[in-house]
Amino acid sequence: MLKTFSTILVLLVAPAVGYAQPMVNHFDAGAKVFRLDGGGVSYVFGVNARGELEQLYWGGRLGAADKFPQAAPMREWASFDSSYTNTPQEYAGWGAGLFNEPALKVSFADGNRDLVLHYESHAEVANGFDVVLKDVARPIFVTLHYAIDAESGILARSATIENRGSEAVTVEQAAAAAWALPAGHYTLNYLTGRWAGEWTLNQEAVRAGARVIESRRGSTGHQANPWFALQAGEADEEHGEVWFGTLGWSGSWRITVEQDQLDAVRVTGGFNPFDFGYVLHAGEKLETPVFYGGYAKNGLGGASRLLHRYELEHILPRAEAKAGQEQAAGPTALTPRPRPVIYNSWEATEFNVTEAGQMALAEKAAALGIDRFVMDDGWFGQRKDDHAGLGDWYVNQEKFPHGLKPLIDRVHALGMDFGLWVEPEMVNPDSDLYRKHPDWVLHFPGRPESEQRNQLVLNLARPEVREYVLGFLDKLLTENDIAFLKWDYNRNWSEPGWDQLPAAEQKRVYVEFTRNLYAILAELRKRHPQVEIESCSGGGGRVDLGILRYVDEVWPSDNTDPFDRLTIQDGFTYAYPPQVMMAWVTDSPHWLNKRTTSLSYRMLSSMQGSLGIGANIANWTPDEAATAKRLIAAYHQVQATIVQGELYRLISPRNGSEFSATETVRASKNQAVVFAFIHSTQKGRGFPTLKLKGLDPAAEYALSAIEGKAAAGTPEVASGAWWMNHGLEMDEGFRGDFQAAAFRLDRK
Ligand code: GLA
Repeated sequence: MLKTFSTILVLLVAPAVGYAQPMVNHFDAGAKVFRLDGGGVSYVFGVNARGELEQLYWGGRLGAADKFPQAAPMREWASFDSSYTNTPQEYAGWGAGLFNEPALKVSFADGNRDLVLHYESHAEVANGFDVVLKDVARPIFVTLHYAIDAESGILARSATIENRGSEAVTVEQAAAAAWALPAGHYTLNYLTGRWAGEWTLNQEAVRAGARVIESRRGSTGHQANPWFALQAGEADEEHGEVWFGTLGWSGSWRITVEQDQLDAVRVTGGFNPFDFGYVLHAGEKLETPVFYGGYAKNGLGGASRLLHRYELEHILPRAEAKAGQEQAAGPTALTPRPRPVIYNSWEATEFNVTEAGQMALAEKAAALGIDRFVMDDGWFGQRKDDHAGLGDWYVNQEKFPHGLKPLIDRVHALGMDFGLWVEPEMVNPDSDLYRKHPDWVLHFPGRPESEQRNQLVLNLARPEVREYVLGFLDKLLTENDIAFLKWDYNRNWSEPGWDQLPAAEQKRVYVEFTRNLYAILAELRKRHPQVEIESCSGGGGRVDLGILRYVDEVWPSDNTDPFDRLTIQDGFTYAYPPQVMMAWVTDSPHWLNKRTTSLSYRMLSSMQGSLGIGANIANWTPDEAATAKRLIAAYHQVQATIVQGELYRLISPRNGSEFSATETVRASKNQAVVFAFIHSTQKGRGFPTLKLKGLDPAAEYALSAIEGKAAAGTPEVASGAWWMNHGLEMDEGFRGDFQAAAFRLDRK
């Protein structure tokens, strides 16, 4: 039943940055038009004459009094493309001759596979609407959830699919949402990679047909990340219209970007339909992940700044800053506190961890000004290398004869907190756990079990496996004073069977595994509110807005080469904020590329994100230790600006660029930090003048070098207008291979 005309004004505290306009949601009962306004964005859809929910507008914010007429279905294109196919539906069922990507496809027990969803009713919720659709004949109900953020205008969309009939229905394909853009010329941006080579930004023209970005691997994957951005026409880093979106799901996912037969573009994303099947028994519901979508007028840079702010304020767990660390990081308006600077010994010791060795590294780390000491793989079970031990989460007695307590106490006495590596969802066949419960792994009975890195994946969808994993982690955190878990996940799925369920229902594993992962993380955080967690999956294999609701940081890549990291970090920031981007300084020459770089270059590369040290500091010279100590101290002073500020990618390191540079400006515009990198000077070219962005033109800013020098004659203090229009010039001597400089500007 239609509700009567209503308007809700949600008044929010004026945000520090962004738009002062309030968020509005509005339903025009006469025209049957829904409108959501937030930040600089309006999103409009309505019920058309046939009863379908049709998108009407997504873009820059419209005038408050502007009105839309009732949605009109698109016309038929000859007899080959029906109006149902051409109409940009908010959530199209597969039926009635739909040839585009459906949002929902189901099979009924009697063989019917036709589904046509029409508007049924809606409810206003605080920052959006819940709109209920129903099949034209059968009791399949879909509730579409819409919520718009008052500051960024980012929409969160998802769907709840409900079987109110008496017979089971199989959901074969279920999207979280579909987004539509009118016919036009667009460039698609998406992120792909591989182990040690994540976060490659791809840019290509959208053409007729579909570009599928996906993971069939059971988890998010290194190979593609569930984020996209579509630029209109000539849009670039800082100019032009950009529509972007990101899926909050850490299981198999799919985003389809499709230019249809009439050149319009649709983006449909949710559970990956490959090998998917979710049986909804009478009365059951299926909740999809959330597909977030946003719009910016000022290029890819504007898009990522909106997304970063949204992630910092609405996705990441919020924790009170701890005394001491708060002071180190500086006051911040945002509650996800800047990450402690960590030391991790993985690259220094690999599996060869011992009480004495870790204590010796902890002494060295504390002397550098490190906040958190993290012990990586190798401390548990019979773990000497990657052939054994996963699953046996007891402390290895040979390496730690008195348990973890002596090491943890020593780390605390040195003024650091303690973190530990775990890989909870995995098992080595050579482990007590596997010997006891061989059926706990994902497998098809009687079929070979494919090992990768000598390990198998536990079927976390099974309740007893979920309880085991929650149980040992809870015990570990209860018995030891642990501030941080590095939660690893070092392979993808194979043979995803779940033979405890009837054959027709086994594919539920794709949903329940990830749900149980989230449930365990949520429960651990509830029981141990002080514990922070990193999502690692052999580097950046599990980074998405689903897991980021439960973890404080991520490991973007096992590749710690400081030069490769510039492009890895550049790509990462299109979708995620530097706050969560852990970046370690490791040894030179680097193990992967055999490249030799200076410590200062390595430090500055890592200081673009959340800094850590992962080198064998036992071998550092006093000079190296002094350099690291000085730069860690300098980093602590400006960290909140770097990791939570407004990021401007001034010069991209992509495409073999000779140079790269970034600038981050604190929301208050009181401070900015600039990084400049030279790959390899060619033909004597000097570093380009950096015209800074985002400063207050009328304010005076003092420049100081963190590392390197500005050009002779650069003013010590100048207006924001000077730094933005005249720009910052580097010293004449800033040339060579793998050189780096960093500066801060502070408002006077
Ligand atoms: C993965 C992680 C590394 C390290 C190893 C330990 O590869 O990404 O950082 O923890 O596992 O086995």
